[in-house]
Amino acid sequence: MKTEDKIKPTGELLTRTVPMPADTNANGDIFGGWIMSQMDIASGIMAKSVAKSRVATVAVNGMAFHHPVQVGDTVACFGELKKIGTTSMNIQIEVWSQRSIQDVYFCVTEALFTYVAIDDDGKPIPVKR
Ligand SMILES: CC(C)(COP(=O)(O)OP(=O)(O)OC[C@H]1O[C@@H](n2cnc3c(N)ncnc32)[C@H](O)[C@@H]1OP(=O)(O)O)[C@@H](O)C(=O)NCCC(=O)NCCS
Repeated sequence: MKTEDKIKPTGELLTRTVPMPADTNANGDIFGGWIMSQMDIASGIMAKSVAKSRVATVAVNGMAFHHPVQVGDTVACFGELKKIGTTSMNIQIEVWSQRSIQDVYFCVTEALFTYVAIDDDGKPIPVKR
């Protein structure tokens, strides 16, 4: 099933927030960069809790935007740990939006974030298992 056709999210709820008018683009929808920053925050929360160390985003893959987000939607990021490598972690993030007036949920976007566990000098270190 395509993610945009899913009826419920996969993974753990990591963040919930409501975008404001200052977060809109020229079309009046929520700016894609704002959504991506929410995904980075959410995946960073999961990566830190897995690695129990500092982490850095090294790559974002497979990002696809399925629906626009509007001011006042409740935007939730869900994460699933897909893989732990030596120093890296792959975390799939789905963003779901709830349009309060209509009480409908839909998947807005998704992407695979890769994080690296790092030490105090910013050098990769093995992920503690
Ligand atoms: C993250 C960082 C410390 C990694 O250092 P590095 O010397 O490139 O590390 P390595 O080449 O040893 O790779 C580390 C791990 O990341 C993985 N990796 C590196 N580049 C990757 C990429 N483009 N895509 C997916 N995985 C990648 C490697 O496969 C490796 O995984 P493993 O240890 O599980 O096998 C360094 O690239 C960095 O500081 N980048 C900037 C991070 C940053 O500022 N992020 C915020 C941007 S807004």
